[in-house]
Amino acid sequence: MHEKAAPVYAMSDIVRFGVSLEKTLLDRFDTLIRKKKYTNRSEALRDLIRKEFVMKEWGDDREVAGAITYIYDHHKRDVLTTIIDIQHDFQKLIISTQHIHLDHDNCLEVVVVRGIAREIETLADMLTAVKGVRHGTLSMSSTGKSLG
Ligand code: NI
Repeated sequence: MHEKAAPVYAMSDIVRFGVSLEKTLLDRFDTLIRKKKYTNRSEALRDLIRKEFVMKEWGDDREVAGAITYIYDHHKRDVLTTIIDIQHDFQKLIISTQHIHLDHDNCLEVVVVRGIAREIETLADMLTAVKGVRHGTLSMSSTGKSLG
């Protein structure tokens, strides 16, 4: 039988190190990672470190990837054409757009993007500022190249 899916790194690349921490802080950390469904502290700590590097990439205006999500009422005047105009103006950043008809009035769109952080933030700002667009969020991720 096959073992559990092998990690992308070799075991020899893994370094163990001790961390000194106040008991109260560690208790809070354990509560947090239980809520987030981590199975162990190491995986939680790895994700926290990666998250810091992703934030740094966005600050540095390097190439990043992410998703812009928003909801709008497609009956609202001009909302559709405005959104499509903006998407065409930024087509170099957009990998794909998924459109979901939530109900009779509301549409959900997820725009997957990759490019320079500053430009993606501009696109996200423009889309979420369209009159009739609600709950716009930008989910910042990484191209993965620097995460390991
Ligand atoms: Ni729709």
